[in-house]
Amino acid sequence: MNPLFIPRAIGFVRTPFQQTSEIPKGPGAKHEMDGVLEILPEFEEGLKDIEGFSHLFVIWVFDRSEGYELLGAPPGEAELHGVFATRSPKRPNPIALTVVELLRREGNELHVHGVDMLDGTPILDIKPYMSSIPAEKLKRGWATERY
Ligand SMILES: C[S@@+](CC[C@H](N)C(=O)[O-])C[C@H]1O[C@@H](n2cnc3c(N)ncnc32)[C@H](O)[C@@H]1O
Repeated sequence: MNPLFIPRAIGFVRTPFQQTSEIPKGPGAKHEMDGVLEILPEFEEGLKDIEGFSHLFVIWVFDRSEGYELLGAPPGEAELHGVFATRSPKRPNPIALTVVELLRREGNELHVHGVDMLDGTPILDIKPYMSSIPAEKLKRGWATERY
């Protein structure tokens, strides 16, 4: 392997989910659970001013996923789709992205709503969510009317 950089966790997510089967998936699935992004003390200063944002991108690692499939059928789907047209955990680089609502900050802890990761999942990065794409311009491909 020739990594472009060596990723390191900036923290870990605390969620109620111990098994992937507990996490809602498939058409119409809603992520309504609260969780906590526990940021390691050495990175806490980097949270300055984050309270002003309502939503955050959380970039994290599918640390309990093995291997990858270039074609797969998402839950509830009969047809195969390319991995880069899905949110499958089985990806060449096991990186995930979730938009969560920031409820409050308590020191190095961000209390958030809308988690879909297992308890103890490593966090790679956090960025403020700022979408400028008007709803009428968004296309949802094969997932139109499913999600
Ligand atoms: C479909 S993926 C979507 C994740 C993220 N929202 C994204 O779009 O990249 C969510 C699923 O990943 C699985 N999962 C969650 N945490 C995981 C982890 N730490 N390691 C491996 N799989 C995980 C669960 O089955 C969960 O339902």
